[in-house]
Amino acid sequence: MGTTPKSPEARMSSRSIGTDPSTPRYEDHQGLFVNRSVGNSPKLLRISSDISMLDGDLGLNDKREDMPEATGAVAAAAVSERMLLPKERRQLAIVLVGLPARGKTFTAVKLTRYLRWLGHDTKHFNVGKYRRLKHGCTQAADFFRGDNQEGVDARNEVAILAMEDMFSWMDAGGQIGVFDATNSTKERRNLILKLAEDKCKVIFLETICKDQSIIDRNINLKIQQSPDYADQTDYNVALKDFKARRENYEKVYETVDEGSYIKMIDTVTGQGGQIQINAISGYLPGRIVFFLVNTHITPRPIFLTRHGESMYNLTGQIGGDPPLSDAGEQYAIQLASFIGKQLKSEVTASIWTSTLQRTSLTAHHIVRFPKVQWRALDEINAGICDGMTYEEIGKKMPDEYLARKLDKLRYRYPRGESYLDVIQRLEPVIIELERQRAPVVVIAHQAVLRSLYAYFADKPLKEIPHIEVPLHTVIEIQMGVTGIQEKRYKLMEDN
Ligand code: F6P
Repeated sequence: MGTTPKSPEARMSSRSIGTDPSTPRYEDHQGLFVNRSVGNSPKLLRISSDISMLDGDLGLNDKREDMPEATGAVAAAAVSERMLLPKERRQLAIVLVGLPARGKTFTAVKLTRYLRWLGHDTKHFNVGKYRRLKHGCTQAADFFRGDNQEGVDARNEVAILAMEDMFSWMDAGGQIGVFDATNSTKERRNLILKLAEDKCKVIFLETICKDQSIIDRNINLKIQQSPDYADQTDYNVALKDFKARRENYEKVYETVDEGSYIKMIDTVTGQGGQIQINAISGYLPGRIVFFLVNTHITPRPIFLTRHGESMYNLTGQIGGDPPLSDAGEQYAIQLASFIGKQLKSEVTASIWTSTLQRTSLTAHHIVRFPKVQWRALDEINAGICDGMTYEEIGKKMPDEYLARKLDKLRYRYPRGESYLDVIQRLEPVIIELERQRAPVVVIAHQAVLRSLYAYFADKPLKEIPHIEVPLHTVIEIQMGVTGIQEKRYKLMEDN
């Protein structure tokens, strides 16, 4: 194939990934709050009420409009909730509780990303953003005093505005609102419960951190990154103000012991700590607890790569279990040398592959770290189209070809899988990637890597089947305390 190994540094590109979905939605151009209707655009993952549409048994996909809008556990849970609960209780608000600098927003962003990726329409409502829009960025610590009635009223007012936005969004089809504020007194939480009555279920999510080194690090990040201190050039002045604000909150802070709650106590490092739960039941709350138990903030890299070029890649066939081409073999050697350099000072790391030979052959030359095979990492199952080229499918099964072209996310190959199916089966992989503290190298396939990458990059579901994941390229995802950074390394000249 005449491929030339490339120095990774020469071809590396780097950027922050992920979006910030917490921007107030009904803010008009003057920064005032207007309850605009959200429009009639169809929600991608509204779950059908027709159970027959969700059973996945679509024969040869002859009823295109009946492609399931969710699959697996997500669909099953939606059906049972629909049957068991009255309409107004299907929506859920996760209401954060905690002192400033306790990682509330970090947790809110992460949980939102996870739930959206699973297929739940989820939105982060950050009350701090509403406060800044309404009252400006330069509120001094006094504004946050518990005995400053004017301040309390002003803060309640923006919390109510954010809540109302959340309810309007739920009315328009939104499923899970993540409501991010300190919500640190029983009075405030009672107000929230009252407002949410008959609108949605409420689960309080309290983050408690007693580890002073983590609090200090969070404070430092807050001063450097929060718009509240963007205009303050003197670090010490900002620090003094933030500490005074924190003390004001501490004076009136009441831990949650009411309603349905999840309490995370010193769990951010992923080592030890405690999770308390009360009145939590059901599929979604269960998933949320499971996710929170497994996430932590220890920085570590995750490397994602497709297998080296396979014989099927050369012929344009899909699926199957082909070996590598000569170029693919060369990539395997290049990859081993790249990983060797990147992880030279690491004692623990692991290499994950699918059960298909093109991924284990690609991992073959990496010798220093243990390898784990995951069935869940196998390529999308192309069913009766396995082994065909796209051209052949177009000719022999034009309806299938067209149906997939029209809705690649939901299209399920006859006797095979859809992207939604792939996402569902990758959930344990995501949880395990979140749980790992050491670097992980994932060698998998195009559809699988699109789905995994979308989680880290917070890409909307409908974009997943179209994400570019080229051959012979390593995507490094750096998990860190301030979010996720991405670097791409093109190791070969041929793509
Ligand atoms: O062509 C390589 C491949 O991994 C196939 O095995 C698989 O069916 C396909 O990519 C997935 O990509 P797409 O969803 O764009 O068809």
